[in-house]
Amino acid sequence: MKDLTPRKEDLDPIEISSRDEIAALQLHRLKWSLKHACENVPHYHRSFEAAGVHPDDLKQLSDLSRFPFTVKSDLRENYPFGMFAVPREKVARVHASSGTTGKPTVVGYTKNDIDVWAQCVARSMRASGTRPGDIVHIAYGYGLFTGGLGAHYGAERLGCTVVPVSGGMTQRQVTLIEDFGASTIMVTPSYMLSILDEYRAQGLDPRKSPLQVGIFGAEPWTNAMRAEIEDAFDMHAVDIYGLSEVMGPGVANECVETKDGLHIWEDHFYPEVIDPQTGEVLPDGEKGELVFTSLTKEAFPIIRYRTRDLTRLLPGTARTMRRMEKITGRSDDMMILRGVNVFPTQIEEQILKVAGLSPHFQIELLREGRMDEMVVHVEAMTTHSAADARKACAADLVLRIKDVVGVSVRVDVMEPEQVARSQGKAVRIVDNRPKT
Ligand code: DLL
Repeated sequence: MKDLTPRKEDLDPIEISSRDEIAALQLHRLKWSLKHACENVPHYHRSFEAAGVHPDDLKQLSDLSRFPFTVKSDLRENYPFGMFAVPREKVARVHASSGTTGKPTVVGYTKNDIDVWAQCVARSMRASGTRPGDIVHIAYGYGLFTGGLGAHYGAERLGCTVVPVSGGMTQRQVTLIEDFGASTIMVTPSYMLSILDEYRAQGLDPRKSPLQVGIFGAEPWTNAMRAEIEDAFDMHAVDIYGLSEVMGPGVANECVETKDGLHIWEDHFYPEVIDPQTGEVLPDGEKGELVFTSLTKEAFPIIRYRTRDLTRLLPGTARTMRRMEKITGRSDDMMILRGVNVFPTQIEEQILKVAGLSPHFQIELLREGRMDEMVVHVEAMTTHSAADARKACAADLVLRIKDVVGVSVRVDVMEPEQVARSQGKAVRIVDNRPKT
């Protein structure tokens, strides 16, 4: 793999400013953001009043902890445009979450918000090793999901040649990567695995592909998966994080030279990590739920939004801005099996240690009598598709999960191509327990 470390002079100066400079900018912007939200969004006006706080009470950054949290149901209750802080005519674009249950959550952007978003994604791509002039293949979905258009505007802003493919039609993805010579791909890590399968199905060597950088996000993925993809394609695999409520992709990104967690673009987003039970702010280094406050957003300011994502804040390395550790899961992805907390990423790590297993998997939850059961459905590699080889892989995985994760599960090693393929975010958990 090539050394793709960006040159210092190409970075935005704030990325490597002193902590004091960053904190001063944050305080100034945070005061503006609280005031903007309170004066223009009735929900914030009410919630601040109910908590007995006023934007003027913020004298230092830590005073933010006195302000109330915002949660997903607040956005639902204000559906569709009730959380906007500018007249609707000033909203240049809306996006919305998929809304698997009930109404989707709608977010809005002014022209300036879209411009700042493009800057954040361009910065994320540069950190990933992408350069102006590169060909960028975008296989995140285009539409109400923020992935496709968010990546698109950032790639254009960086000065790349953009190939806006969106998700799906996997054969064509491979043809276009090869024929157009894309050096960067932006896609969910699970869909990248489908693209990898397709390379092999077409008899192509993925290590000879033109790809040098993959910017993967929108779902949790492990360092074991990074190693798998980097090895298969001989490319850098870098993590990008974001969420619609806070902006979209490009809230935080790894640096290609370190790959040690994601630098949060702290000039636009103020992070806190809280104890999910008590709501108390935890010191940097301690694991909890990530909370974000926007510092510059006009149309849709967001104050102390509880992301449900679990991570911890770490000091900067390749940049002065703080890092968040690679996300291990969401609090709502956490399965509790006979008292043990289990995340899909822990299962993924163990699967990738068994030589005969492919990284395609799905976890099914069942109830047998009064006991919850977990069945891991995972595919064998073509080299291990015979019944006895699959049986041996299953036994190996059962032991590893018992040893490392601490739970007894059933493992169903299927023949190749039997687990549903992802074309966007993977569905890792299928809950077939009876609804009570
Ligand atoms: O997934 C935005 C995005 C698009 C990010 C493309 C990166 C790339 P939502 O659909 O609102 O937005 O989903 C946000 O996805 O709260 C996390 O739980 C999860 N997520 C996003 N990025 C990562 C990541 C987009 N790098 C939710 N690692 C977030 C782990 C991620 N989880």
